[in-house]
Formats: sequence, structure tokens, C-alpha cells
Amino acid sequence: MPVGRWTWSAAFLYNSLVDRMAVFTNVLEKARNSGDLTREEIIALLSLDDADDIARLVQAADEVRRECVGDDVHIRGLIEFSNNCAQNCLYCGLRRDNPDVHRYRMTGEEIVETAVGIAGKKIGTIVLQSGEDPWFTAERMAGIIHGIKSRADCAITLSIGERPYEDYRLMKEAGADRYLLRHETASPELYGRLHPDSQFESRRQCLIDLRELCYQVGAGCMVGLPGQTIEDLANDVEFLRRLDPDMIGIGPFIAHPNTPLAESPGGDLTLTLKMIAVVRLVTRNALMPATTAVGTIDEFGIEKALTAGANVVMPNYTPLEYRVYYEIYPNKRCITEDPESCIGRMSAQILSIGRTVAEGPGHSYKRNG
Ligand code: 5AD
Ligand code: SF4
Repeated sequence: MPVGRWTWSAAFLYNSLVDRMAVFTNVLEKARNSGDLTREEIIALLSLDDADDIARLVQAADEVRRECVGDDVHIRGLIEFSNNCAQNCLYCGLRRDNPDVHRYRMTGEEIVETAVGIAGKKIGTIVLQSGEDPWFTAERMAGIIHGIKSRADCAITLSIGERPYEDYRLMKEAGADRYLLRHETASPELYGRLHPDSQFESRRQCLIDLRELCYQVGAGCMVGLPGQTIEDLANDVEFLRRLDPDMIGIGPFIAHPNTPLAESPGGDLTLTLKMIAVVRLVTRNALMPATTAVGTIDEFGIEKALTAGANVVMPNYTPLEYRVYYEIYPNKRCITEDPESCIGRMSAQILSIGRTVAEGPGHSYKRNG
């Protein structure tokens, strides 16, 4: 090759590298300043594969997290009160077609006692989570919510799936403050493949109903679902930007052996962290948990998520006798650890990364509770 031509190609490569870095710096600056990114920019950030570039993205998200919601990490006490489920989500170990689950239901009294106990430890929010269990009618749930609220000064978050508007209304009137209903994936076709009995549109409608009823609303998605592309994740980011939920849970998909997706590879930690970072940059002041799933795929997953934009942790307070049976995916973190050491370990994790443990109910930064 003539020397002149070689020099010209090297110069061209050098210039395009410089151009690429300048573009990246501009996008990151825009992300940091306003989060007002185009779809192409969102895709570019989610596609980063250079470790230094990813570190800069995560750092920008961490800075925006500090500016918009401070250093506080909010603690939510989780009670998984029933693992019965009428749904058949392809990814979940609790799906109704899995016959190998020992199904349990805590009694109303057990739920109230457990919740009051958690609130007594100065944890300001109780999360009541279950599969979609029709035994817990809205009236029964209202009784439980009322039972907790009459004895404890705490916020109540429900995470019990899709319900009719009237059910949501009844539970809100009984005193529920928040509702978590991850949208799972904002790509309707992928959603349809993973949920044999339901459609994305009904999910979306539930989120709108909850918002109308003045719940603080939580949405969110999984990362690394079989067949999911970066374009799909960009759909999630854009969906979350439009919906602007108070809370956003993002975690990696983890294959469960007793599901149709048993053989699928799980979600990747780095992609999950990039997704948390981009969502923080775009949504600014959402409450974002460092999910149990991210802590399950990596020993330091919780800390890594907390430094990539997250600001909530959810220690598990489900009584140990039931907890082993709430297996949405295998090797779930905290499965045998008693609640006291779980919260102790989480507080140490929070302090170790220079953050503070929040007190009080930790309501939405977007709308007052
Ligand atoms: N891997 C990771 N997350 C899962 N979830 C359900 N099954 C799995 C799995 N196999 C998540 C869903 C659901 C939340 C309670 O747990 O996003 O909304
Ligand atoms: Fe049921 Fe929720 Fe599991 Fe779906 S993800 S099967 S609704 S518990």
C-alpha cells in the first residue's frame, strides 16, 4: 500500500474516532443537563460497549440522582403474602401452570401483624406483594389495609397485579398509598409472546387507572428477556418518559427451571446498569429500587445499582416459613436470611457507598402522597 494512502486512512480513522468521542460527550452532556434525549441517543447510550464510556454514563446518572433526589436511600419492608397466581407469565416461577410450587397464603391477621412489626422498626413503607390471587378480593385487601393503617403510621404500597378500576378504588379508599405494576416490556408484540392471557394495552390501562385514582404509581421492566432487543429497551425508556411514574423498578431476567424459558440466558448486569442509568437520566427524580434480581446476579449488584441511579432498597420481611416458596426466579437473594440481618446488611451497604438511610414514608418526589 502506498504510504500516502495509508496515512490518509489512519488520519480518517483518527478523525472519525475524535468525532465519535465528541458526539458521545455531547450526548452525555445533554443527558446530564436535561435528560431530553432523542430515541437515537437513547439507543446509542444503551449500546455503549467501551468500559470507560459506560463508567461515564453511570457517573452522569449518579450525579443526576444526587442533584434530583439527594443521597437518601429509602427502605421498603416487603411482605410476599401469597404465591398463588392466576397468570401464566412465561418467565415466572409462580405461573399457574407450574405444579411444583408449594402454594401458600398468609392470613389477614398474619399480614397485619407482620406489617405492624415492620413499622415498629421505623420502616416507613410496607409493600404488600402477591401473585394475582383472586382469594384476596378488594374487600379483603381493604380490611387488611385498614387493619395496618389503624395500628401503624406507615405508607402502604400494593403489588398485586391487574385488577378492575373498582377494586383499585376500594383499596385506595381503604388507605393504600402506592401501587407497583411493572409494565414488563413496552413492546406490545414481545409482551404478547410472554403473557399468553394478556395484552400490553390492558397493562397500560391499569397504570392509567391507578394514576387517575391518585396512587403513587410504579412501573418498570426486565432486561434481557428472550428476544428483547436494544430497540425494545428504548421503547421502555420512551414509555417511562411518557408515563412519568413515581417509581421505576428495573431488573435482569433470570431463567427459572420450571418455566418455558428455562433454557434462555439471563439478563446481563452491565446492560441492566446502563438501563438504570439511562432511565435515571431521562426521568430525573423517580424512586428507583436496586432490585433483588440485580443483587441475585451479582454479589455487589445492589451497590452497583445504587451508584448507577437507584435510590430505594426493599428488604424482605416475609416470614421465613413462607419466603422459600416465593420463587419467581431461582437463588433469590435474602431467601434464608432473617429480616434483622437483611436490613442490617443493607444499611451497611448504603453507608459503605457514602449514602444515607432515609427515615419516614419516602413519598414520591413527583407528586405528594
Ligand atoms: N426474572 C426476573 N424478574 C422476574 N419477575 C418475574 N419473573 C422474573 C424472572 N424470572 C419480575 C417481574 C414482576 C416482578 C414481581 O418480578 O418483572 O413484575
Ligand atoms: Fe403471576 Fe406476577 Fe409471576 Fe406473572 S410475574 S406469573 S403475575 S406472580
